[in-house]
Amino acid sequence: MKVEELNVEGHYKEIGEALTGEQKRRGMLIYAFQQIQKEYNYLPEDTLQKLSEKLSIPLSEVYSAASFYKHFYFKPRGKNVVCVCMGTACHVRGAGKVLHKLEDEFGVKEGETTEDMSMTLETVGCVGCCGLAPVVTVNEEVVGDVGLKKINELINMVKK
Ligand code: FES
Repeated sequence: MKVEELNVEGHYKEIGEALTGEQKRRGMLIYAFQQIQKEYNYLPEDTLQKLSEKLSIPLSEVYSAASFYKHFYFKPRGKNVVCVCMGTACHVRGAGKVLHKLEDEFGVKEGETTEDMSMTLETVGCVGCCGLAPVVTVNEEVVGDVGLKKINELINMVKK
């Protein structure tokens, strides 16, 4: 979605006059972040600047709102996002080794993206599948019981 296409009044047409103009504009922020991130895979600086102007909200407040949520990113991310769970159950069952294997294989550290933008490596606290530990997510898909065989399959899949 292009920032220019944001239609504040249209977005709130069911609510009518129940909200003030400012409430409607501020209420658009999260929706706009989601749409922008869907398009670019992160929140580009120039796009946030346009959003700030479009909604008449200072850029510092736009950043403040976006950075409150861990879900929004300010740096470009890879085509594939591989996330290693480092929660207690996964840690105990070898998540550290899984992370190191991925770091070695792709030449990146946690939080980094490969130069060719094919993969971003992240970690998370717990994805709620502790019974499957150690767990890795690949583009939101959960892969459990990540042993040597699975980690190699996962690496080959991401490299394709
Ligand atoms: S600790 Fe890894 S899924 Fe819960």
